[in-house]
Amino acid sequence: MIKIGDRELPPLILAPLAGISDLPFRMLNRSFGCRFAFAEMISARSLLYQSRQTLKMLSTGPDDRPLGLQFLAEDRDVIRHALSVLKDNTYDIVNLNAACPVEKVTRKGEGAGMLREPRKLRDLLRVMVKSSGIPVTVKIRSGWEGTSVNAREVALYARDAGIAGLFIHGRTREQRYAGAVDYRIIREVKEALDVPVIASGDALSPQLIKKMFDETGCDGVLIARGGFGNPWIFRETEEFLRTGKIQDRPTIGEITETMIVHLGMCCDYHGEARGTTLFRKFFAWYTRSLRGAKPLREKAFHASTKEQMACIIRELRASQESPEPRLCGFSPPEPGTT
Ligand SMILES: Cc1cc2nc3c(=O)[nH]c(=O)nc-3n(C[C@H](O)[C@H](O)[C@H](O)COP(=O)(O)O)c2cc1C
Repeated sequence: MIKIGDRELPPLILAPLAGISDLPFRMLNRSFGCRFAFAEMISARSLLYQSRQTLKMLSTGPDDRPLGLQFLAEDRDVIRHALSVLKDNTYDIVNLNAACPVEKVTRKGEGAGMLREPRKLRDLLRVMVKSSGIPVTVKIRSGWEGTSVNAREVALYARDAGIAGLFIHGRTREQRYAGAVDYRIIREVKEALDVPVIASGDALSPQLIKKMFDETGCDGVLIARGGFGNPWIFRETEEFLRTGKIQDRPTIGEITETMIVHLGMCCDYHGEARGTTLFRKFFAWYTRSLRGAKPLREKAFHASTKEQMACIIRELRASQESPEPRLCGFSPPEPGTT
């Protein structure tokens, strides 16, 4: 367990994921062994207006615990107000996003834009530490770009503000989500701080998560893309860290049954039309390593009702279990063709 402020929290954490980590996604992952999750990032300013969309993004339930909430902010008054609006006992920690690489965010000095102004970041975090009743953390990147890797300096400013933990994605803003993860800078940050450091970047498999722990000495790891269409990653990683082995990968039956449950959760929460549309990308992720699934992925992309999507999932199961040649990609060429 990791001690963040006065909380004892598990080391494998479902990452804040804009547009992904809504209540159904978190609950699905929790049912597969995720023991600590972040809700979707929200803009602190949007809490001033309390739009329906923002309130929906904040929805949670008694089983959705422990839970972290991440803010996008750059203004001290706005973040102070946002923290005052939060209900007690709902979240275990708050986090300031100083990592988002999107241009329309950084242009306003928010997200990774904060990496260029470490003093301003420190001052904002100070306000958060003062106004928040729960532990305050920050998520940074290794730096703005390859020539300005300053995570250690930023981390020390954040420490001066009194943060209870630091999350670091080992890529620069310039790299976005591609290219090599800089394990060395994560280790440097870990060695510089006396609060827990949670690492992020290419946590795509139990093996890569172990590599992150081994190479950086971090206290915890954020699971982001590794959990897309793969809620099994939590139990498999715990098993791998414990035994060095993974006994059972999910069967096609388990995968498709999970897809049906997930689809139902999406539709219950978002309504059928939106739930089905949102599930399309999950269909692609659940099936990305299944041979011959491409035509069904394309079909799923046009499904507009829950029943249509469920029907394609059943077709997927039948096609994967059938001894017939696969439909595309890996099937042998027809005789007479090259
Ligand atoms: C679709 C998507 C949405 C994301 N949204 C957020 C977010 O809202 N807040 C955040 O701090 N990071 C966000 N991230 C970054 C992840 O939390 C994580 O740091 C990053 O993907 C690196 O980890 P990975 O290489 O294991 O995926 C997002 C990443 C993806 C792919």
